[in-house]
Amino acid sequence: MLYGKERGRSAEEIERRIREIKESIAVTGTYAHTVDELRHGARVSWRNAPKCINRKFWQTLEIIDARDASTNEEMFNAIKTHLSRCIEADHIPVLMTVFKPETPGASDGPRIWNSQLLRYACHRGIGNETIGDPAELAFTDAIKRHFDWKPKGDAPGMFDLLPVVCQINPEAAPEIFELPEECVIEVPIHHPDCSGISAMGLRWYGVPAVSNITLDLGGLKYTAAPFNGWYMVTEIATRNFGDEGRYNLLPKIAHAMGIDTSIEDTLWRDHALAAINYAVLHSFKRARVSMVDHHTAAAAFAAWRADELKNRGYCPGNWKWILPPTAASTSSLYLGLNKMTEYTLKPTLVPGLGLKSLVNRANQKGYFSHNSTQSVESSMILLRAAAKFKMKAKMMKVKGGLVLYASEGGKTQARAFAMWNVLRQRVPMIRPINLASPEVEFTSLFEGVEFVILMSSTTGSGAIPTGSELFVDFMKSDAGKVLKGINFAVCAFGSSAYPKFCAGGKHFAQQLSEAGAVEMFPTVMVDELGGEDLSVRDFVSLLFKWLLRENRITLSLHNLMLENFENGRTGEPAFSIYIQPREANGLQMSPVHLGTPAILTERKALGSSGALSTVQVSFKLAQSKRGVEYYKEGDHVAVHPKASKAQAAYFAAHFGVQLSDNLFIVPLREKDTFKGSIDPAIPNPCTIEHLFTTVIDINAEPSADLLHALSQHVENAECKEELEDLARDEARRIQWIQQSDVRVFSLFEHFQTLSALHRDADDALDVLRDCLLLFPKLRPRFYSVSSSPLSNGSNEFDLTVGRVQYRLGTRLKLGFCSDYLASLPLQTIVYVVNRPAPEFRLPRSDKTPILMIAGGTGIAPFKGFVENRLFSRNAVKGEAILVYGCRTRSNELYREFMEDAVEKGALSQYLVGLSREDGVSKTYVSDVLLANAESVKRLIAHDGHVYVCGDVRIEVSAREALVSILGENTVRHLETSRRYSLDIFGAWDLQATSAARVEGALKKQNSLPPLRHALSA
Ligand SMILES: Cc1cc2nc3c(=O)[nH]c(=O)nc-3n(C[C@H](O)[C@H](O)[C@H](O)COP(=O)(O)OP(=O)(O)OC[C@H]3O[C@@H](n4cnc5c(N)ncnc54)[C@H](O)[C@@H]3O)c2cc1C
Ligand SMILES: Cc1cc2nc3c(=O)[nH]c(=O)nc-3n(C[C@H](O)[C@H](O)[C@H](O)COP(=O)(O)O)c2cc1C
Repeated sequence: MLYGKERGRSAEEIERRIREIKESIAVTGTYAHTVDELRHGARVSWRNAPKCINRKFWQTLEIIDARDASTNEEMFNAIKTHLSRCIEADHIPVLMTVFKPETPGASDGPRIWNSQLLRYACHRGIGNETIGDPAELAFTDAIKRHFDWKPKGDAPGMFDLLPVVCQINPEAAPEIFELPEECVIEVPIHHPDCSGISAMGLRWYGVPAVSNITLDLGGLKYTAAPFNGWYMVTEIATRNFGDEGRYNLLPKIAHAMGIDTSIEDTLWRDHALAAINYAVLHSFKRARVSMVDHHTAAAAFAAWRADELKNRGYCPGNWKWILPPTAASTSSLYLGLNKMTEYTLKPTLVPGLGLKSLVNRANQKGYFSHNSTQSVESSMILLRAAAKFKMKAKMMKVKGGLVLYASEGGKTQARAFAMWNVLRQRVPMIRPINLASPEVEFTSLFEGVEFVILMSSTTGSGAIPTGSELFVDFMKSDAGKVLKGINFAVCAFGSSAYPKFCAGGKHFAQQLSEAGAVEMFPTVMVDELGGEDLSVRDFVSLLFKWLLRENRITLSLHNLMLENFENGRTGEPAFSIYIQPREANGLQMSPVHLGTPAILTERKALGSSGALSTVQVSFKLAQSKRGVEYYKEGDHVAVHPKASKAQAAYFAAHFGVQLSDNLFIVPLREKDTFKGSIDPAIPNPCTIEHLFTTVIDINAEPSADLLHALSQHVENAECKEELEDLARDEARRIQWIQQSDVRVFSLFEHFQTLSALHRDADDALDVLRDCLLLFPKLRPRFYSVSSSPLSNGSNEFDLTVGRVQYRLGTRLKLGFCSDYLASLPLQTIVYVVNRPAPEFRLPRSDKTPILMIAGGTGIAPFKGFVENRLFSRNAVKGEAILVYGCRTRSNELYREFMEDAVEKGALSQYLVGLSREDGVSKTYVSDVLLANAESVKRLIAHDGHVYVCGDVRIEVSAREALVSILGENTVRHLETSRRYSLDIFGAWDLQATSAARVEGALKKQNSLPPLRHALSA
């Protein structure tokens, strides 16, 4: 009736046709539509589709009549014709291919199993990870399992086109067909202004053709009637790319645009949505593939709907689908559309049989197991699936391994991340946890963890790194019982220049054992004075052996991991990078927090020689806050030095980039990111200037990993071998560095063919990408504050900086940060971070006597202590003795100040020992202490507090002297009652260090078996 009416048939024609149909049904049980009936019925079914916004064009729908297809292949041929017609036309036509209908009551209709003719696969990764379109996970699983389907490329990709599964009727086995290229048009997604989005490698197919739908027309059910229109941009950009359950790309897109995703008020989702919609629209336009934007579509629908209501009196609609998912409120439909109602009008399009039912039905018919090979294979599949399930269940309980680290200066942190990177490729591993700021409660951290790798450096005089006491407290507490039975191994970083070598790591190992954790193998100690890389290698080989013994890895995997490790292969970086000149778009960069800006206001030479060998530098906070105390006397200030711009620009040129360029990092997998970046230290995006002056230490020595990564890009065999050799042989590498004074920034002088000046710019960027995580990071340096907030207020502070000089081979070198502070122009802004030192504070009461023992620049905090006493309002002060050791009179840093303090009563005694003054016998602080033993005894007897500051040797000799004056028990008592405070700067026997490093490396090298044979050892 509807057909007759809408197609202008006369009453007689309509009546005759109805009679014909009735007769046919009476004889055959069914009837056949004419082509025109079918076409019109298909058109009306679209007009009636409540979810579709583009229905305005319902009268343009054309059909391909494929009702005569009688095999799967014929079905697929019709599908190919359908798709070819779509892409051959200038504008995508609206097409429906109609296969034969079901025999009424027989459920025998043809089926296309796919939800759409074109769709991307979804592959399972490790754990819950997926690659591709998660909407197609079940379908991909099914075709892999039942048709042994594999994607075309070498590895599963994000956009692997799925084959089409056709089943002409339930009695025929379903078959898969790969779509030939000529039937498919795919559009690479490109953003005209944001190359970050272009570099993401996104694409989408051009023809949206729903295929698992049934056309319900005139009592007949066409169970296979694939039907396409053209895309509205939001369907791809907002939903397919943006939905969390689909490609979930918004965070990556926001990163690519340089928007901070860690907070909501940047509106990163909104920006990302707008940008990706624009990119998709632009790309389709560029590829001349039809697409409508949501604003045009919504306006057209609003006008058409009004007409429909006026002319026809009805227009079913589902407002959630009609309203564009992006910028919905800008549509005139926004406020009125929820009054729309969804109802079914026939003819209609309804969802076809679900995938599960189709698979079950085929299974019942025995299509997937009807010959013996197949049944063996399917039982294998079942077994594999069961094993996988068991494994999954296990994985849910067992997170795998955990790397914990405690690092003062950042070296151990870098090692921890490198270790994690090696392990996680084969063993489930949790991202490394900093024991000083775990971000997760320790109690929940160990749930199901099988083994813990703890990497710790040592600071002070045998102390664990600042902040990691948190973990020690946890281990000692009741909650620490969760550690019982957990396997652990400790890699302790330290320097044999210190009397308490690797004491930090050893302390952790002991505490873990006491908490009931089980040691996998004895603590490996890594000495920075030589054989560092080799010792780490030793640790790794012991760890792999343990994993093998415990059946966590197979022998072949063990050997492969060792080989990869030995050859420095850490796998392909899980990210790509690209460069965009800053002018290319006005996008805002993520803010980079490096601390508090402070202005360098004054610099004074200390000592009486007038040389700038030690300076007092004064700072004023750039943004002073009244009433906020920035520091207390005794605190440390971390200074972030910067490499010179000229040096950074020189280095950048070798990668073919400029300081003003922006670097974008696009992680390939979301799980590899850490707050938007692949490395917490590298902001994403960041300027090349920031990267090379502030993040990466281009003045540092090139590491073995870095040299190995470079070797992969060298074509010349000799040069490659040279680099690989240097990467493998630590002693040679140190010698080479010492002899040639090579630094990261000067690497290209030695390996010129790697430079962008001698090769393709894209290749040079590949070098940058592969080295990015391997470059050493520029670490802040600590300085003790040499002032008291009581003098100029907490917004101003002084530092005492000894300008470090050392020999490298025959060259005299300057310390990086101390030279930076000694030569920086006044009024420059430096970024600083206060690190409170609560253990190194003056006693609460000025009446408590204090004994201060300092060597060299170790006088720094005591200048602050004395200043505090000078400005303190308390009239009555306890005794304060300062024992100071330095080389010569001219090295005495604050003589006038201290003598003045004695005069003013802020200091009781100022005692100096000179170790290299002409005509004066060598006197060390220990000698001064022994000579004043009575004063020391008196001070301690009056509950006095001892402070020691300087390099580690001062601490050793001061302690020895105190033990001989007071006895070991008293000194121990001072330590345990927190009346003995240390502020240790390091160990300064630097010239011995250079030689010792080569020697240490050689010794270690000779003591270790080659890694490949480690297994048999
Ligand atoms: C808690 C703390 C407080 C400090 N307070 C002060 C202070 O008040 N005044 C002051 O002048 N310095 C202080 N230092 C030392 C300071 O942090 C720097 O180490 C020093 O300025 C050298 O840095 P640089 O960049 O100039 O040398 P770099 O370029 O880092 O080093 C040059 C050479 O010296 C070696 N080296 C550097 N630092 C050390 C070290 N600590 N021990 C052994 N070898 C080292 C390096 O291996 C390298 O070979 C303190 C250190 C710490 C940990
Ligand atoms: C101030 C200071 C004190 C140190 N004290 C010790 C120590 O007592 N024992 C030791 O073995 N190493 C000591 N070291 C050496 C460090 O542990 C070693 O350099 C380590 O590699 C630093 O790693 P990190 O950067 O992760 O903190 C000390 C280093 C510094 C700078």
